[in-house]
Amino acid sequence: MDAILDQLRTVAAEADDAGRHKVLDAIRKLQLQLETPHDTLSRFSGLQLEITAARIGADLGIFKALEENKQPLSVTTLASKTNAAPLVISRLLRYLASVGMIQEVSQDNFAANAITKTLAQPGYEGGVRHFFDNVGPVLQAFPGFLAETKYQDVSSATNSAFQKAFSTDLPAFVWLPTQPERFAPLQQVMTVQGTTGVPWFSVFPFEKELGDFDGATAFVDVGGGFGHQSLSLLAAFPGLRNKIVLEDLPQTFEQIPFKLDGIEPKPHNFFQPQPVKGARFYYLRNILHDWPDDKCIGILQQLVTAFGPASQIIIDEMVLPDSRVSWEAATIDLTLMASFGSRERTTAQWHALLDAAGLKILRIDTYQARRQDSIIQAIPK
Ligand SMILES: C[S@@+](CC[C@H](N)C(=O)[O-])C[C@H]1O[C@@H](n2cnc3c(N)ncnc32)[C@H](O)[C@@H]1O
Repeated sequence: MDAILDQLRTVAAEADDAGRHKVLDAIRKLQLQLETPHDTLSRFSGLQLEITAARIGADLGIFKALEENKQPLSVTTLASKTNAAPLVISRLLRYLASVGMIQEVSQDNFAANAITKTLAQPGYEGGVRHFFDNVGPVLQAFPGFLAETKYQDVSSATNSAFQKAFSTDLPAFVWLPTQPERFAPLQQVMTVQGTTGVPWFSVFPFEKELGDFDGATAFVDVGGGFGHQSLSLLAAFPGLRNKIVLEDLPQTFEQIPFKLDGIEPKPHNFFQPQPVKGARFYYLRNILHDWPDDKCIGILQQLVTAFGPASQIIIDEMVLPDSRVSWEAATIDLTLMASFGSRERTTAQWHALLDAAGLKILRIDTYQARRQDSIIQAIPK
């Protein structure tokens, strides 16, 4: 058994990102094939608890404490660090170790493993809080919402499980910015969402498409969150210094935890006319999947009003295949239905949406195979 596992580990370590995912998917498939009915139910019973315990671990600073200490920490030390009762903390640590979030090195002594180190980072801690605090209540409300709407396709930004979960009439991206303790983790997790593998601009021919463009703004990161994509683009192409504009809601800029050197921050609502005129690229990453088609058309049309002769839109999103969608992409798609009344789109759905907005697709470059993360280049018809 150990030899088989070692072999798999070697294959995964030597593979590229797509190859590593193939190994992960094969292990997952095998795990499901080996399950008895009891195992299936046990796995279900742990699904909610895993994120719940991660949230408690984050609240108590357990992952950071273990990550910072090179030596293992005892239950007694962690209890005094966190002011939690030793019995409560020891049961929590026992659970976290049993599901692999921390490592039990000896009785009552725990250390960080690779997952602990991940969970100690702000982007991933933000993910734990976002999935527990924001997505959790929406998924709880999802079955009731679908039953009430008789399982019909509602596709509405103001009528989804989100509104039922949080007793609001507002779209998620209007209500969440009014709740800083929910909005900050959402923005944090965006900085690490889908960051494995090759960057989009190494597959889409960015430099070639930029050509000899000499306008004031080369790249507008529309709804760019904390600016992580702008920053990595600038790191790859230093000549773009002071030629990148980062746009998002004012509440996002109030929360940005780092300096945006060489990038101009511009608070802007993308349902209003685009203020940066004649840029080469208007870049939308994971924006249109948050909105149903009618709202997407509005966003795209506001961009086109600012177009100069060399302008184009580049959309960075999943382009789903017509069948055999990966579990990861399907998970995000269903979460979007519950949260925003929106969706991930197939090639045909992208063509139909852009056509309805008066645009045509020039090319689609896929840079992440499993999720089918792709760059869609579009210009007016
Ligand atoms: C799913 S996140 C994507 C963030 C970033 N583009 C990325 O890919 O990581 C959606 C972003 O859209 C922003 N947003 C939502 N509604 C907006 C609006 N009306 N105007 C501008 N930005 C908005 C949110 O604040 C958030 O940063």
